[in-house]
Amino acid sequence: MAIERLVEPTLAEDNSEEEKIEISLRPVSFEEYIGQEHLKNNIKLAIEAVKKRSDGSTLDHVLLYGPPGLGKTTMAGVIAHELGASLRVTSGPAIERAGDLASILTNLKDGDVLFIDEIHRLRRAVEEVLYSAMEDYKLDIVIGKGPAARSVRLDLPKFTVIGATTRTGSLAGPLRDRFGIIHRLEYYKESEIEQIINRTAGILNTKIMPEATGLLAARSRLTPRIANRIFKRVRDYADVNGDGIIDVAVAKSALDLMEIDYLGLDPADRNMLELMYENYGDRPVGLTTIAALTGDEAATIEDYYEPYLLQLGLLARTPRGRVVTDKGRRHLQGRKSKA
Ligand code: ADE
Repeated sequence: MAIERLVEPTLAEDNSEEEKIEISLRPVSFEEYIGQEHLKNNIKLAIEAVKKRSDGSTLDHVLLYGPPGLGKTTMAGVIAHELGASLRVTSGPAIERAGDLASILTNLKDGDVLFIDEIHRLRRAVEEVLYSAMEDYKLDIVIGKGPAARSVRLDLPKFTVIGATTRTGSLAGPLRDRFGIIHRLEYYKESEIEQIINRTAGILNTKIMPEATGLLAARSRLTPRIANRIFKRVRDYADVNGDGIIDVAVAKSALDLMEIDYLGLDPADRNMLELMYENYGDRPVGLTTIAALTGDEAATIEDYYEPYLLQLGLLARTPRGRVVTDKGRRHLQGRKSKA
């Protein structure tokens, strides 16, 4: 059985209280957005150039990729805000047919930003409509069926697509080529996560001591969405067990309760590493075998567990599969001997 995870950086469920808080914490402008300096500088420049030209040209299409939870959606919102444009949000799996895309595109206005999350999951037929829309702002649609069918070409407004994906590898070449600006979102520095936690504490009116901020930052997988989620849980703990102030003792007890260790690993990460090591030692294991061992989907392992474990060097990818590294083995054994 897959273990339910606090640290899984998916977005909270639609319209839940959790999602509302998540949205309220999102920075709106570049000024408020902490970290990703390289990406910000590049996009700022591109936006300034568009504004300076003032000839009706729009920002090139932007592709953002990288592990989940690092702020791709947030960045799309910031870009739209900085452009003074409206943002329309959709996702690859939500656009089922070419007709769905056609209706989204024909409802856009000049300069609008269309954010497509999980763009690698677009269907082929939809992707093909998107090509010409992105390339020359035309929509080719077929009206009718059989011998009476005819194709018409509609003009579309000049819009900007911001595509987000956890994997550039699974994006079709022709689609990738339509993006003028392609950037990877990097894991944040621990100091940046600390700034994000302090910002969140301010917005949610909670007092947190500096050492507690440091402790939470160290266990947040260098990922803002996880930092904010852990922060909220620790805040609940402080409200219930203390006076609402998050000091280092409260932070430590709350993190222990959540079973998040000093590297930010949760029981599901450790369970996966343990199963791999117990069954395969230091030999490589295929992704589908790992998925069978843990009871997760292979895609979940690839998108959610693996990136951070690779980043930490606890896991390595080889042509023949994944292996637990020496560091990974030592981490598991260290925890066992401490327990
Ligand atoms: N909240 C989530 N991500 C953030 C970021 N990058 N900057 C500021 N606040 C955030």
